[in-house]
Amino acid sequence: MALNSSMEKTTASIVTAEQLTEALPTMALATRAIHADDFSSSHRGIAPAMHVAVNYRYDRDPEKLVQGENEDPTSADSFVYSRYSAPNSKRFETVLENLFGGGIMTYSTGLAAFHAIMVLLVPKRIFLGDGYHGVHGNIDLMTKLTGVKKLGLDQLDQIQSGDVIHIETPVNPTGEARNLSYYSSVARRAGAYLTVDATFGPPPLQDPLQFGVDVVLHSGTKYIGGHSDMMCGILVVHPQRVTEGWVDTLYSERLVMGNVMGNLEGWLGLRSLRTLDLRVTRQSQTAESLVNWIYQEMRDSTSVVGRVVDDIRHASLQDQDLRDGWLRKQMPRGFGPVFAIWMKNADQAKSLPSKLCIFQHATSLGDVESLIEWRAMSDDSCDRRLLRISCGVEDPADLRRDLLEGFKALYHQVLKSE
Ligand SMILES: Cc1ncc(COP(=O)(O)O)c(C=O)c1O
Repeated sequence: MALNSSMEKTTASIVTAEQLTEALPTMALATRAIHADDFSSSHRGIAPAMHVAVNYRYDRDPEKLVQGENEDPTSADSFVYSRYSAPNSKRFETVLENLFGGGIMTYSTGLAAFHAIMVLLVPKRIFLGDGYHGVHGNIDLMTKLTGVKKLGLDQLDQIQSGDVIHIETPVNPTGEARNLSYYSSVARRAGAYLTVDATFGPPPLQDPLQFGVDVVLHSGTKYIGGHSDMMCGILVVHPQRVTEGWVDTLYSERLVMGNVMGNLEGWLGLRSLRTLDLRVTRQSQTAESLVNWIYQEMRDSTSVVGRVVDDIRHASLQDQDLRDGWLRKQMPRGFGPVFAIWMKNADQAKSLPSKLCIFQHATSLGDVESLIEWRAMSDDSCDRRLLRISCGVEDPADLRRDLLEGFKALYHQVLKSE
């Protein structure tokens, strides 16, 4: 009798998938990123298995065959064809949905995800600022196909129902933030859509859905992946738009566009999400401290930094916007790991990366390695004195020393030439 009741107790205390689902909303993002998919696996491995299968055997029982479906209730790994969905990407999407709080669709790259927005909304006009040049290239392609017109954010007085406002915040390459509440109210008044590229401000730094954004875009290649080894794009759809069928439409359109994320990337993405909170918080704090240091030094024209650095931009330097309050409300947990500096001349900008031993001279951002890019290498329209800096997870004091040594090397060249 005693044994029976103790057994009952043990059975009752076993945690179920339903209990975990109930408990998840009470947990912080860092915890959810590690446990939101605990019940998504058909095996007991703590780490996910890597599935590379493209196709899945249909049920052996002819009575159970349903066209387009391959449901096996005993298996969490039951799929049809990897262009529709696949185990690793599905598990990745499960965690993303929990972290982002909206409907999720993943793609092969960030630009593929942006293209999916264009196919979903087919706008006649899209209003946007400078931002990532690849997005502009994609719109030019759409202009060829649909005639969509590109207008600037200074032309919003012309906005009409069905138009799209596309905001990047923080914006590439400077890391400066844009006021989402403002653009959201303009879009609502006009019956237009608001889409936001939040690649430079991933969770936990900001949640654009809270500001009435219809679709949030992330180049998952950056912070979501975070290890310079995967490409992916992510769309986060506002819950209201999910009820209007937007995710279903995105899914059926992805199916025929074929711009789906690879199996390996789904696996790598999950691995990366586990540390998203740790990485991004650290990277953002490091950026803020480096920006503050360079900014203070720069104001002294006799200092090493002041002799070689001409300007610096980052959301943490947007004094007026911080005083106005919207910026801290929009980015309560930090202002992002990317900032930009302008050297006194193009030669200095071109040669600074070669004088650094920790920062890697490469394009992209969001990785565990700190990166610096002479921006002219990948964007020929930009000022040739511009360098974009993406902070990694190395020790901040080492990064500061590395930059200082680089600035000193340039400073000695200035002294020699005088
Ligand atoms: C702000 C922004 N959006 C979108 C993209 C495109 O992402 P992907 O390279 O994954 O296509 C990038 C790439 O650098 C980017 O910086």
